[in-house]
Amino acid sequence: SYTVRAQQGTAEIFDGIKTKTYGYNEDFLGPVIRVEKGMNVTIHLVNDLKEDTTFHWHGLEVSGNEDGGPHNVLKPGESDTINFTVKQDASTLWFHPHPMHKTGEQVFKGLAGLLYIDDKNSERFDIPKTYGDDDYPLILQDKTFTADKQLDYDKTMNEDGTTGDTLLINGVVDPKLTVDRKKIRLRILNGSNMRSYTLHFDNGMAFQQIASDGGFLNKPITTEEIEIAPAERVEIIVDLTAVKRDVINLVHQDATTILPIHLKESIDNPQKAKITEPLNNLEISSQVKRKKVTKTIKLAGMGKSVTINNEKYDPNRIDFTQKQNEVQVWEVENVKDAMEGMNHPFHIHGTQFQVISIDGKEPVGSLSGLKDTISLKPGQKAKIAVKFPEKGIYMFHCHILEHEDNGMMGQIKVD
Ligand code: C2O
Ligand code: CU
Ligand code: CU
Repeated sequence: SYTVRAQQGTAEIFDGIKTKTYGYNEDFLGPVIRVEKGMNVTIHLVNDLKEDTTFHWHGLEVSGNEDGGPHNVLKPGESDTINFTVKQDASTLWFHPHPMHKTGEQVFKGLAGLLYIDDKNSERFDIPKTYGDDDYPLILQDKTFTADKQLDYDKTMNEDGTTGDTLLINGVVDPKLTVDRKKIRLRILNGSNMRSYTLHFDNGMAFQQIASDGGFLNKPITTEEIEIAPAERVEIIVDLTAVKRDVINLVHQDATTILPIHLKESIDNPQKAKITEPLNNLEISSQVKRKKVTKTIKLAGMGKSVTINNEKYDPNRIDFTQKQNEVQVWEVENVKDAMEGMNHPFHIHGTQFQVISIDGKEPVGSLSGLKDTISLKPGQKAKIAVKFPEKGIYMFHCHILEHEDNGMMGQIKVD
């Protein structure tokens, strides 16, 4: 069993300076919690903050009572215990707060942690899996600091998603990774309030994507760049054995280096071969593909006017119902109106869904794997197959945290 405590702290993000932060069990951010498929897990939740919070398990298929949505508020000083059995395959999930109107601020201040699910099947894969040796988490977040280096949510808060001028990885301002010249695995979480990243290496090298939000892809996908929207996760394998340089940089779209990777001496057992083995056997049955759309989601607006199906979140309104374990086809559209519009990363609690099509085409890349969040550009439309393995009330919302806080959220009751 685990204890997860939301608390205030101070972190030395800048040398010799104390920055006031929030964290889980730590001053800033949180632990990586590792659970195994089949395991019965008990987590004690403690709110040591001076404000309400909730503990949401993003991507985890648990009952609505344990999901930590805005109904599961813990007041300052309160605690609670949740218990669930892990039924999902190996995957990189995460947890963060979800109190109404406060999610953006609490995540910005540091409340975010990782939840890894391990399983027996993936144990045998020939991929890096030793935490901190060849398997590294990278939590990407942008933040802004005041002149005296305090987190500046109040002044930088933006109704269309808060962005920062400083990029942190795992809570560190000038991150650097030093590794042997071998194959490494990066589990990347975009934990930013609104920013998306398109990542590549400055030497142009290709790498392999092996997992999306909900676990392994069927086959590794070789690519030179990868896009990651808020709340999404990708896992990539980077083969450093043949790299000639001593430093390669992970960079994002505007050419900023976000992570220099320093390479030590070559090690003797170069595992050069690309991973070719099948990692998963996801498929969507033709019967599901033929199903009619039974739920339509229209994402619209910007700023305070954001809506889903023309409505704002109302905690007392159930927008949809669905039977436990029933597969339904949802059509999710980012409505293009007269204004330019913006991307909306659409997320559903309590499920890992599969994308049937996007703009009528077969999904590729991350979208071919299990997803809990799908980012849609203005005018884009996706059909997704959604199944809830547990019961309860679940949120669906835009994962630009200020859009969520502005009510771009609805709820579904599964029974
Ligand atoms: Cu990651 Cu409802 O959230
Ligand atoms: Cu979630
Ligand atoms: Cu949005």
